[in-house]
Amino acid sequence: MKVMIAGGSGLIGSALTRSLIDDGHEVWLLSRNTSKVRPEKGVNALEWDGRTVEHQWLEVFGQMDVVVNLAGATIGQWPWSQAHKKEILQSRVDAGRTISKAFEKSSPRPPVLLQASGIGYYGPRDSEPMHEESPAGSDFLSTVAINWESATRVVDTMGVRRVILRTGLVLACEAGVLPLMALPVRLFAGGPIGSGKQGISWIHIRDQVRAIRFLMENDRARGAFNLCAPNPASNADFMSALARALHRPYWLPAPAFAIRLALGEMSDLLLSGQFAIPQRLINLGFVFDFESAYDAFTDLY
Ligand SMILES: NC(=O)c1ccc[n+]([C@@H]2O[C@H](COP(=O)([O-])OP(=O)(O)OC[C@H]3O[C@@H](n4cnc5c(N)ncnc54)[C@H](OP(=O)(O)O)[C@@H]3O)[C@@H](O)[C@H]2O)c1
Repeated sequence: MKVMIAGGSGLIGSALTRSLIDDGHEVWLLSRNTSKVRPEKGVNALEWDGRTVEHQWLEVFGQMDVVVNLAGATIGQWPWSQAHKKEILQSRVDAGRTISKAFEKSSPRPPVLLQASGIGYYGPRDSEPMHEESPAGSDFLSTVAINWESATRVVDTMGVRRVILRTGLVLACEAGVLPLMALPVRLFAGGPIGSGKQGISWIHIRDQVRAIRFLMENDRARGAFNLCAPNPASNADFMSALARALHRPYWLPAPAFAIRLALGEMSDLLLSGQFAIPQRLINLGFVFDFESAYDAFTDLY
């Protein structure tokens, strides 16, 4: 298979690339800085700016079996200034529109597009489970997800099988949010964050890659899928499982007001959440390797 991954140099893209080339597939990475892509057999790096369709990558675009769009400015960077919030949204809308234009311009067309999105689509929720048909929220991250998903909607009209990857918190040791959450625990200061009741819809990086590949290869998969383990945890249960896995105490609550003071609006990432269920993946027969957060942590650490 020939797979193009826009924004493929990051956490998910790198793990997906490794899995694909290990199985003998060929990968083209679209990056704004190809020098950071390690040269490797089966991996081709092409420069793009995330905003313009260029001849250099458009030429190979039409030969792809699958296109995966993961590009977007990081959400986990502090502070969420107005300028950075604008970049979080605009970079995703621009990348989506650019990929859509490439589909429009190419003949033949790649038959499949996997489009990244996030569980933040549903907005902050109490304990009710969020399935793929649950309504969107109205906070900043929901607005980002709605516009992000819409940016590639037009390819649905071109006969392309489009899959939306509504991803939860990806658990990996090397990057993402987990190392930051694990830091106070490692320093013997672990405990619930805020009320501890907010949901965390998490997924082990290996299941994330397995789910993406499952959706890539399954012709019945189309539309939005929650990519998160079937057992989302409350923040208190998640942090307590992390402390147990790291053999550290779980005792020191991090008060919401202090986190709000330190992080501003970005504190929503930690203080609110949702309990998302990967209903459509389960319906298609996908089996998770990691169903409990504790098992995921003991595997990772
Ligand atoms: N990791 C998670 O827990 C998680 C959860 C939910 C959703 N997601 C979403 O899934 C996607 C992939 O996640 P990830 O963790 O692999 O993210 P990541 O490590 O931050 O990688 C995203 C990639 O996007 C590209 N990028 C960054 N800023 C950009 C900009 N302004 N314009 C265009 N491209 C830009 C970068 O590639 P180059 O620098 O090479 O261009 C980067 O490697 C992201 O869009 C993320 O929001 C991730």
